Amino acid sequence: MKRSTVKSGVSQYEMGETVSRNAYIVGVGHCVPDGVITNADLEKIVDTSDEWIVTRTGIRERRKVGEGEASSDLVVKAVENALEMAGMEAGDVQGIIVGTVTPDYPFPSTAALVADRIGMGKIPAYDFEAGCSAFIYGLIQAKAFVESGIMDRIVVAGVDCLTKITNWTDRSSCILFGDGAGAVVISSRGPGGRLGGWHWGADGSLGEHLIQPAGGSRHPASHETVDENLHTIRMDGSRIFKHAVRAMRDSCMKALEIDGTEKKDVDLLISHQANLRIIDATARALELKPEQVYINIQKYGNTSAASIPIALDEALREGIIKESSTVVVAAFGAGLTWGGMILHW
Ligand code: COA
Repeated sequence: MKRSTVKSGVSQYEMGETVSRNAYIVGVGHCVPDGVITNADLEKIVDTSDEWIVTRTGIRERRKVGEGEASSDLVVKAVENALEMAGMEAGDVQGIIVGTVTPDYPFPSTAALVADRIGMGKIPAYDFEAGCSAFIYGLIQAKAFVESGIMDRIVVAGVDCLTKITNWTDRSSCILFGDGAGAVVISSRGPGGRLGGWHWGADGSLGEHLIQPAGGSRHPASHETVDENLHTIRMDGSRIFKHAVRAMRDSCMKALEIDGTEKKDVDLLISHQANLRIIDATARALELKPEQVYINIQKYGNTSAASIPIALDEALREGIIKESSTVVVAAFGAGLTWGGMILHW
């Protein structure tokens, strides 16, 4: 197939000739809110200690949006930063997808609000939900769009403001979560991080172990659901922990196999930042040295869909990811969902 670009920028194909297309990360950006909650702050509201939180999770502080702030406010800044790194204008992008479980509203989508605020024009824009695995799910969707020729340039963002749905009386979960957004610009033209082999999956039979029970069609918002605190996160931490360790390891191994890359050729692991012990277990499975694992959980806690793009952006800007780096990204989350991908710079 032969590609020609029409005025709108959408790729068109003529039959008869084959082109092999790749998808590259050409810009990354992130945004975290200014508000900080330290472990000492949490000691004042639940029966916990800095020592317990650091030992069991690795988290020292996390960010929190203000009263009037919402997910789209963070995404706008993350996307602007990613576009700047890519050297693109908002109007150069042909689509935006946003992974989140905390959209500004059930509808309209956060993606559509962001596209309008940034001036991206009337491009396709939608949200999708895969818990903390959403960013990996987004990369896989973007790869499909770009490699199939549906789009040449697409923004994938991951955002969550989990502090808005945290149960601040539940010490086993409220210590974990923070707010943030991250975004990447994916293009059919490098240079950048080429999206390689991937693996993803979900198991709804485990969904009840990490759930926001009310606010959907099963239990629409009512006085009763609010009184029973059903709009906040319910989590069986130890069950999720065991599943996460297995899912992360399997996702990484399968993505490596599909990519044709060996463990010894991996330069860096950027794992979903949920718990330092889960990251360590994944790093051990990949036989990586400590310096080959990017960790920022101490600063931000678990930012859900945003955790991988935030870490990716920091690792790039700190020069940890270099030309020819092979990076493994992997996540697990509500659904339960999981996914991994190999990125080649
Ligand atoms: N401070 C002090 N003690 C706490 C505590 C806290 N914040 N939270 C729980 N505890 C207590 C428990 O009550 C329990 O006490 P008990 O033995 O007297 O019953 C003890 O610590 C151990 O609890 P447990 O749940 O077994 O701890 P854990 O080692 O599994 O750590 C998590 C708890 C939540 C940190 C851990 O299970 C985890 O990170 N799970 C994954 C969660 C996750 O990633 N969720 C998001 C998915 S994207």
